[in-house]
Amino acid sequence: MRNQIAAANWKMYLTWQQGQELLESLASQIPALNGNHQVIIAVPFPYLTGSLEKTAGKKNVFIAAQNISDKKSGAYTGEVSGEMLASIGIPYVLVGHSERREYYHEDNAILAAKLDRALENGIKPIFCCGEPLEIREQETQNAFVETQLKESLFHLSAEQLENVVIAYEPIWAIGTGKTATSQQAEDIQKHIRSVVATQYGEAVADKVSILYGGSVKAANAVEIFSQPDVDGGLVGGASLNADEFLAIIKALQ
Ligand code: 13P
Repeated sequence: MRNQIAAANWKMYLTWQQGQELLESLASQIPALNGNHQVIIAVPFPYLTGSLEKTAGKKNVFIAAQNISDKKSGAYTGEVSGEMLASIGIPYVLVGHSERREYYHEDNAILAAKLDRALENGIKPIFCCGEPLEIREQETQNAFVETQLKESLFHLSAEQLENVVIAYEPIWAIGTGKTATSQQAEDIQKHIRSVVATQYGEAVADKVSILYGGSVKAANAVEIFSQPDVDGGLVGGASLNADEFLAIIKALQ
Protein backbone atom coordinates (compact mmCIF):
# COMPACT_ATOMS: atom_id res chain seq x y z
CA MET A 1 0.00 0.00 0.00
CA ARG A 2 1.26 3.46 -0.88
CA ASN A 3 2.18 5.90 1.87
CA GLN A 4 -0.57 8.43 2.60
CA ILE A 5 1.11 11.65 3.65
CA ALA A 6 0.08 14.90 5.33
CA ALA A 7 2.99 17.25 4.64
CA ALA A 8 3.29 20.74 6.11
CA ASN A 9 5.26 23.48 4.38
CA TRP A 10 5.85 26.34 6.80
CA LYS A 11 7.51 28.42 4.04
CA MET A 12 9.05 31.59 5.55
CA TYR A 13 6.51 31.91 8.33
CA LEU A 14 6.73 31.59 12.14
CA THR A 15 9.46 32.54 14.59
CA TRP A 16 11.16 29.66 16.39
CA GLN A 17 9.07 30.48 19.47
CA GLN A 18 5.87 30.07 17.42
CA GLY A 19 7.26 27.03 15.67
CA GLN A 20 8.07 25.28 18.94
CA GLU A 21 4.57 25.93 20.23
CA LEU A 22 3.08 24.47 17.07
CA LEU A 23 5.34 21.40 17.17
CA GLU A 24 4.54 20.79 20.84
CA SER A 25 0.85 21.03 20.09
CA LEU A 26 1.16 18.63 17.16
CA ALA A 27 3.45 16.18 18.99
CA SER A 28 1.01 15.89 21.87
CA GLN A 29 -2.08 15.52 19.67
CA ILE A 30 -1.11 13.64 16.52
CA PRO A 31 -2.84 10.28 16.79
CA ALA A 32 -0.76 7.10 16.64
CA LEU A 33 -0.05 6.76 12.93
CA ASN A 34 -0.62 3.34 11.49
CA GLY A 35 1.61 1.65 8.91
CA ASN A 36 1.30 3.76 5.78
CA HIS A 37 0.24 7.10 7.29
CA GLN A 38 2.98 9.71 7.57
CA VAL A 39 3.30 13.30 8.69
CA ILE A 40 6.14 15.39 7.25
CA ILE A 41 6.85 18.93 8.45
CA ALA A 42 9.07 21.14 6.27
CA VAL A 43 10.57 23.87 8.43
CA PRO A 44 13.08 26.68 7.81
CA PHE A 45 16.78 25.68 8.03
CA PRO A 46 17.50 27.22 11.47
CA TYR A 47 14.70 25.16 13.03
CA LEU A 48 15.72 21.75 11.66
CA THR A 49 17.68 20.46 14.66
CA GLY A 50 15.23 21.80 17.22
CA SER A 51 12.31 20.38 15.24
CA LEU A 52 13.94 16.94 15.15
CA GLU A 53 14.23 17.12 18.94
CA LYS A 54 10.60 18.22 19.40
CA THR A 55 9.28 15.32 17.33
CA ALA A 56 11.78 12.66 18.47
CA GLY A 57 10.14 9.30 19.17
CA LYS A 58 6.93 10.17 17.28
CA LYS A 59 6.44 7.26 14.91
CA ASN A 60 5.95 8.23 11.25
CA VAL A 61 6.44 11.93 11.97
CA PHE A 62 9.33 13.35 9.95
CA ILE A 63 11.06 16.72 9.61
CA ALA A 64 11.94 18.01 6.14
CA ALA A 65 14.13 20.78 4.81
CA GLN A 66 12.53 23.22 2.34
CA ASN A 67 15.56 23.43 0.06
CA ILE A 68 18.87 21.77 -0.78
CA SER A 69 21.83 22.95 -2.83
CA ASP A 70 22.37 21.55 -6.31
CA LYS A 71 26.12 21.55 -5.49
CA LYS A 72 27.90 18.88 -3.46
CA SER A 73 30.10 21.17 -1.35
CA GLY A 74 32.44 24.10 -1.71
CA ALA A 75 32.58 27.87 -1.80
CA TYR A 76 28.83 28.53 -2.14
CA THR A 77 28.01 31.06 0.56
CA GLY A 78 24.53 30.67 1.97
CA GLU A 79 23.88 27.25 0.45
CA VAL A 80 23.06 24.08 2.42
CA SER A 81 24.21 20.74 1.01
CA GLY A 82 22.61 17.33 1.03
CA GLU A 83 25.57 16.04 3.00
CA MET A 84 24.92 18.66 5.70
CA LEU A 85 21.22 17.78 5.91
CA ALA A 86 22.00 14.07 6.08
CA SER A 87 24.60 14.68 8.79
CA ILE A 88 21.92 16.05 11.15
CA GLY A 89 19.46 13.28 10.28
CA ILE A 90 17.02 15.00 7.92
CA PRO A 91 15.01 12.37 6.00
CA TYR A 92 13.04 14.51 3.50
CA VAL A 93 13.49 17.67 1.45
CA LEU A 94 11.19 19.76 -0.75
CA VAL A 95 12.50 20.18 -4.30
CA GLY A 96 10.99 22.24 -7.08
CA HIS A 97 8.37 24.22 -5.20
CA SER A 98 6.82 26.77 -7.56
CA GLU A 99 8.05 29.59 -5.29
CA ARG A 100 11.65 28.36 -5.78
CA ARG A 101 11.07 28.06 -9.52
CA GLU A 102 9.52 31.50 -9.82
CA TYR A 103 11.47 33.70 -7.39
CA TYR A 104 14.84 31.89 -7.37
CA HIS A 105 14.94 30.83 -11.03
CA GLU A 106 15.29 27.12 -10.35
CA ASP A 107 14.76 25.45 -13.72
CA ASN A 108 14.17 21.79 -14.49
CA ALA A 109 17.91 21.12 -14.93
CA ILE A 110 18.84 22.64 -11.55
CA LEU A 111 16.03 20.66 -9.95
CA ALA A 112 17.36 17.45 -11.51
CA ALA A 113 20.71 18.15 -9.83
CA LYS A 114 18.98 18.88 -6.51
CA LEU A 115 17.18 15.54 -6.70
CA ASP A 116 20.54 13.84 -7.26
CA ARG A 117 22.12 15.62 -4.26
CA ALA A 118 19.23 14.54 -2.04
CA LEU A 119 19.13 10.91 -3.17
CA GLU A 120 22.90 10.39 -3.05
CA ASN A 121 22.72 11.43 0.60
CA GLY A 122 19.81 9.15 1.45
CA ILE A 123 17.30 12.01 1.67
CA LYS A 124 13.89 11.49 0.07
CA PRO A 125 12.82 14.39 -2.14
CA ILE A 126 9.26 15.66 -2.28
CA PHE A 127 9.30 16.82 -5.89
CA CYS A 128 6.79 19.58 -6.63
CA CYS A 129 5.28 20.17 -10.05
CA GLY A 130 2.28 22.09 -11.30
CA GLU A 131 1.09 24.56 -13.90
CA PRO A 132 0.39 28.30 -13.85
CA LEU A 133 -3.10 29.66 -14.52
CA GLU A 134 -2.55 30.45 -18.21
CA ILE A 135 -1.59 26.83 -18.90
CA ARG A 136 -4.69 25.58 -17.08
CA GLU A 137 -6.81 28.01 -19.12
CA GLN A 138 -5.32 26.59 -22.33
CA GLU A 139 -6.02 23.10 -20.98
CA THR A 140 -2.42 22.03 -21.63
CA GLN A 141 -1.62 21.22 -17.99
CA ASN A 142 -0.99 17.53 -18.62
CA ALA A 143 1.75 18.20 -21.18
CA PHE A 144 3.22 20.99 -19.01
CA VAL A 145 3.56 18.78 -15.95
CA GLU A 146 4.82 15.89 -18.07
CA THR A 147 7.73 18.06 -19.24
CA GLN A 148 8.56 18.99 -15.64
CA LEU A 149 8.68 15.30 -14.74
CA LYS A 150 10.70 14.28 -17.79
CA GLU A 151 13.32 17.01 -17.43
CA SER A 152 13.87 16.74 -13.68
CA LEU A 153 12.91 13.23 -12.64
CA PHE A 154 13.23 10.72 -15.44
CA HIS A 155 17.02 10.44 -15.37
CA LEU A 156 16.59 8.60 -12.05
CA SER A 157 16.67 4.82 -11.80
CA ALA A 158 13.53 2.95 -10.75
CA GLU A 159 15.10 2.28 -7.32
CA GLN A 160 15.72 6.00 -6.89
CA LEU A 161 12.26 6.96 -8.08
CA GLU A 162 10.70 4.76 -5.41
CA ASN A 163 12.27 7.13 -2.88
CA VAL A 164 10.65 10.21 -4.41
CA VAL A 165 7.31 11.65 -3.36
CA ILE A 166 5.60 13.72 -6.06
CA ALA A 167 3.51 16.74 -5.06
CA TYR A 168 1.19 18.21 -7.68
CA GLU A 169 0.62 21.86 -6.81
CA PRO A 170 -1.22 23.97 -9.40
CA ILE A 171 0.20 27.47 -8.99
CA TRP A 172 -3.23 29.07 -9.32
CA ALA A 173 -4.38 27.19 -6.23
CA ILE A 174 -1.45 28.05 -3.96
CA GLY A 175 -2.30 30.52 -1.22
CA THR A 176 -5.30 31.73 -3.20
CA GLY A 177 -8.07 29.87 -1.40
CA LYS A 178 -9.01 28.55 -4.86
CA THR A 179 -8.61 24.79 -4.55
CA ALA A 180 -8.63 22.48 -7.53
CA THR A 181 -11.75 20.37 -7.45
CA SER A 182 -11.14 16.83 -6.29
CA GLN A 183 -11.89 15.71 -9.86
CA GLN A 184 -9.31 18.13 -11.33
CA ALA A 185 -6.74 16.83 -8.85
CA GLU A 186 -7.59 13.21 -9.60
CA ASP A 187 -7.51 13.71 -13.39
CA ILE A 188 -4.02 15.17 -13.50
CA GLN A 189 -2.59 12.99 -10.73
CA LYS A 190 -3.85 9.92 -12.54
CA HIS A 191 -2.10 11.26 -15.62
CA ILE A 192 1.11 11.79 -13.63
CA ARG A 193 0.96 8.19 -12.43
CA SER A 194 0.42 6.94 -15.98
CA VAL A 195 3.42 8.94 -17.22
CA VAL A 196 5.53 7.42 -14.43
CA ALA A 197 4.17 3.97 -15.39
CA THR A 198 5.15 4.47 -19.02
CA GLN A 199 8.69 5.33 -17.98
CA TYR A 200 9.20 2.91 -15.06
CA GLY A 201 6.41 0.34 -15.26
CA GLU A 202 3.12 -0.07 -13.39
CA ALA A 203 4.63 -1.65 -10.29
CA VAL A 204 6.88 1.35 -9.64
CA ALA A 205 4.14 3.88 -10.45
CA ASP A 206 1.83 2.12 -8.02
CA LYS A 207 4.28 2.65 -5.17
CA VAL A 208 4.88 6.38 -5.69
CA SER A 209 2.87 8.65 -3.40
CA ILE A 210 1.41 11.64 -5.24
CA LEU A 211 0.26 14.50 -3.01
CA TYR A 212 -2.03 17.38 -3.90
CA GLY A 213 -1.12 20.90 -2.77
CA GLY A 214 -2.95 24.22 -3.11
CA SER A 215 -5.35 25.61 -0.51
CA VAL A 216 -5.84 22.28 1.26
CA LYS A 217 -7.64 22.86 4.54
CA ALA A 218 -9.58 20.88 7.13
CA ALA A 219 -12.83 21.59 5.29
CA ASN A 220 -11.76 20.08 1.94
CA ALA A 221 -9.11 17.49 2.88
CA VAL A 222 -11.40 14.45 3.16
CA GLU A 223 -12.94 15.09 -0.24
CA ILE A 224 -9.57 15.61 -1.96
CA PHE A 225 -7.74 12.76 -0.19
CA SER A 226 -10.53 10.31 -1.03
CA GLN A 227 -9.53 10.35 -4.71
CA PRO A 228 -7.70 7.17 -5.74
CA ASP A 229 -4.60 8.92 -7.10
CA VAL A 230 -4.36 11.49 -4.32
CA ASP A 231 -2.16 10.11 -1.54
CA GLY A 232 -2.42 13.05 0.84
CA GLY A 233 -1.51 16.72 0.70
CA LEU A 234 1.26 19.30 0.83
CA VAL A 235 -0.18 22.06 2.95
CA GLY A 236 0.95 25.66 3.33
CA GLY A 237 -1.27 28.14 5.19
CA ALA A 238 -3.43 25.59 6.99
CA SER A 239 -0.36 23.80 8.36
CA LEU A 240 0.48 26.83 10.51
CA ASN A 241 -2.52 26.17 12.72
CA ALA A 242 -2.40 23.06 14.93
CA ASP A 243 -6.14 22.32 14.86
CA GLU A 244 -6.37 22.74 11.09
CA PHE A 245 -3.35 20.56 10.40
CA LEU A 246 -4.48 17.89 12.89
CA ALA A 247 -7.81 17.68 11.09
CA ILE A 248 -5.95 17.33 7.77
CA ILE A 249 -3.86 14.49 9.24
CA LYS A 250 -7.07 12.77 10.35
CA ALA A 251 -8.39 13.07 6.79
CA LEU A 252 -5.70 10.70 5.46
CA GLN A 253 -7.32 7.66 3.90
P1 13P B 1 -1.32 26.78 0.54
O1 13P B 1 -1.79 25.52 1.25
O2 13P B 1 -1.12 27.93 1.47
O3 13P B 1 -2.15 27.07 -0.65
O4 13P B 1 0.16 26.43 -0.01
C1 13P B 1 0.35 25.28 -0.73
C2 13P B 1 1.81 25.08 -0.88
O5 13P B 1 2.48 25.81 -1.58
C3 13P B 1 2.44 23.98 -0.13
O6 13P B 1 3.74 23.77 -0.55
